[in-house]
Amino acid sequence: MRIIPFFLLILSAFSAVAKVDSLYLFAYGTAKNDYHNGLHYAWSQDQENWIPIGPEYSFLRSDYGRWGSQKKMYHPYLFRSEGGNWHCVWSLNEEDGAIGFASSADLVYWGRQFYPVLSPGKAISKPVLTSKGVYWTTNDHNLYFSEGSAPHFGATKKVETILDLRQERTVMGMKELGTVHKISRAEWEKLVDAFRIAEAKRVQNEERIGVASDRFKGPMKVSIHPDWNKGKAISDMLIGVFFEDINYAADGGLYAELIQNRDFEYRPSDKEDRDPSWNAKKAWNADGLTFTIDSVRPIHKNNAPYAKLQVNRVGGRLINEGFGGIVLKKGEKYLFSAKVRSSTAGRVKVRLVNEQGDVLAEGVSENANKEWKTLKLTLSALENSSNARLELIPLKAGRWDLDMISLFPEKTFKGHGLREDLAQAIADLKPKFVRFPGGCVAHGDGINNIYRWENTIGPWEERKPLRNLWGYHQTMGLGYFEYFQFCEDIGAEPVPVVAAGVPCQNSAHHGCDIGGQQGGIPMEHMDEYVQSILNLIEYANGAINTPYGKKRAEAGHPEPFGLKYLGIGNEDLITDIFEERFRLIYNAVKAKYPDIILIGTVGPFNEGTDYVEGWKLADQMKLEIVDEHYYQTPGWYLNNQHFYDSYDRKGAKVYLGEYAAHIPGRHNNLETALSEALHLINVERNADVVHMTSYAPLLAKEGYTQWNPDLIYFNNTEVKPTVGYEVQKLFGQNSGTKYYPLAISGAFDVRKLAASLVADQDNLILKIVNLHPIEADVDLSWIKHAEVEKTVFSGDLDDKTVKPVSSISEVPSKLAPYSLTILKFKNK
Ligand code: AHR
Repeated sequence: MRIIPFFLLILSAFSAVAKVDSLYLFAYGTAKNDYHNGLHYAWSQDQENWIPIGPEYSFLRSDYGRWGSQKKMYHPYLFRSEGGNWHCVWSLNEEDGAIGFASSADLVYWGRQFYPVLSPGKAISKPVLTSKGVYWTTNDHNLYFSEGSAPHFGATKKVETILDLRQERTVMGMKELGTVHKISRAEWEKLVDAFRIAEAKRVQNEERIGVASDRFKGPMKVSIHPDWNKGKAISDMLIGVFFEDINYAADGGLYAELIQNRDFEYRPSDKEDRDPSWNAKKAWNADGLTFTIDSVRPIHKNNAPYAKLQVNRVGGRLINEGFGGIVLKKGEKYLFSAKVRSSTAGRVKVRLVNEQGDVLAEGVSENANKEWKTLKLTLSALENSSNARLELIPLKAGRWDLDMISLFPEKTFKGHGLREDLAQAIADLKPKFVRFPGGCVAHGDGINNIYRWENTIGPWEERKPLRNLWGYHQTMGLGYFEYFQFCEDIGAEPVPVVAAGVPCQNSAHHGCDIGGQQGGIPMEHMDEYVQSILNLIEYANGAINTPYGKKRAEAGHPEPFGLKYLGIGNEDLITDIFEERFRLIYNAVKAKYPDIILIGTVGPFNEGTDYVEGWKLADQMKLEIVDEHYYQTPGWYLNNQHFYDSYDRKGAKVYLGEYAAHIPGRHNNLETALSEALHLINVERNADVVHMTSYAPLLAKEGYTQWNPDLIYFNNTEVKPTVGYEVQKLFGQNSGTKYYPLAISGAFDVRKLAASLVADQDNLILKIVNLHPIEADVDLSWIKHAEVEKTVFSGDLDDKTVKPVSSISEVPSKLAPYSLTILKFKNK
């Protein structure tokens, strides 16, 4: 409400200054929103009356450090260097001894951000080279900057005591501190236009699908006709899945392990608030014996903590509650195993017990040893239970050490340890590829949290568990071997994503001097990191006489997994630090494995600095594919249907690695699902440039969710695919390799009727989205078949559970309101 009058004010002011050819610009920041609002501009003819743009439109925001509490811009200071470029310097916080810095040619588009560490105490800091120039600091806390590649004092701009240099101006009745500059009328117009464009986009993005309007009074007669002469080849990899261990997708989710914290590795530091109850005993309890955690002579150094039990009287129990209860199915078998060491070489009774204390399964192990030994048992469930627990009862008094206490259902997906129903739900999508292990999990929260693939293979006790940046724990039971195997089991290409030598841009300091992605892996450690990526490829594809191929064979898969794709980076901040490491990794992989298709990254949005800089880098390096991410509103999908039509067909291909339609409340409904369908129709038209897509995130366990919406919700007993899942499945099961353009006419709102026509080997498949609130009469007279396979997915926009309905039918003459219709018929 407050923005519009100022917007109008700017427009009317435009004519008032029609004759001046220069104006004054005041660049400033405010303390509002706890310093998160970035850099604002106000302008004036007389330096008295300052007119804000926006009124407080943010032309530049700091991207330093963690979401929320960080990313602040204190005291922005703007200056123009002799070459004409603008530079902004700001304070990040009082702790890190670093400042923020960015440059712009036009005050609108701001390039990469830099966060140089000031070096108070040193006569002169090491000069820091950036693509825009070089800066250095002196012991008087001053920052110097000069354009070019070497510091030369003559041409420097001394940005001394920035705070003192700022001037006070009154904007909207408030006294603000900033810098005053003279700018040309053309420069000023660009600023005003930038705000206008941003405002227009905001309005478009807020548009919802379900708008009642007189325009939509029927009948609406639509015609859709193919142009058979303009068919083009499209990607056969279009629909895949994005698997990230978020929302308990792995442990407690797809990974079928029923015991929580089997490795006694939970730590308070897994949680951002260092929750003391989240510790090595989490999910465990003891009754009638002494239970402590020890790490002396562990089963393996990578999994040092284990349970130490002192049993004085037989009958005491160690109890695990599972992930919110253990689910048992009557008549089914459960495979128990544990690493055990005992001073008394006795046996262990293993029981599965329901809430009432009834024993639902029971067995006694063979004798333990004085050294670590694996004990195994198969238990058969006598009854169903959704909330059973595991009880271990050592049958001799003495000291007992236990680790890696595990219980799996005997029935898992293809016998490979994944939860059958969840894995099947993913397989039913017919994904052409599976991306893993993330998302932010891949690049991690700080360099010490970067996901390292080699820590996730081999015997469980050798795998290195890791804090999950979503606030829990990764046992790594679901590791690279299991991911590769799952891909093979469902006929999907594996698409692992490794960090580009930098952690998540939203990282805290963990492992770095300064926050955010800026603390990349130190260059002196990059050789080792690059080698690890080369090892990954060898693990996937190498012959069994190679060191890593041998490890794969030892894990039970002598045949190569046939890895073709590898992602480097995940929506990273595109900075010099990123680029240096990305190039190093890229060049090393290409040199050794030229056939591996490497996927670059272009930031977390569909526009902005990282997108622009990422694409520039992709063009320079002639990358084959880049990974785009954007979570957008239905209004964005509706108003950006030609997003990919302008992409260069000769440039890098796109992997749309993360996307979804988000509405207020962040839930799925038919409105979001049809927005995603609309986008996929537009993507299919552009599937000569968009090679792959994956909705994100894939899985979410009810009650353990950090991110909404997701594609498939689940709990311990049920799988609950969303309406978005139905869309992915329909597109996954109805993909093609050739695309035919369509002429579409007659829609009341042309944006609300979209269609695509693809061909696979045998069939033509027509997909039509009707986002009008009314049905459409549709002319499809070119389809000469008497019968087609018809699938209709429609309902009220707020429907959350509606399912597609399929039938064999004659060619339809109507399209339902708010619908996706798919017609499949033989290509002859
Ligand atoms: O999909 C959830 C998260 O969204 C991913 O981890 C991250 O890449 C993105 O910000």
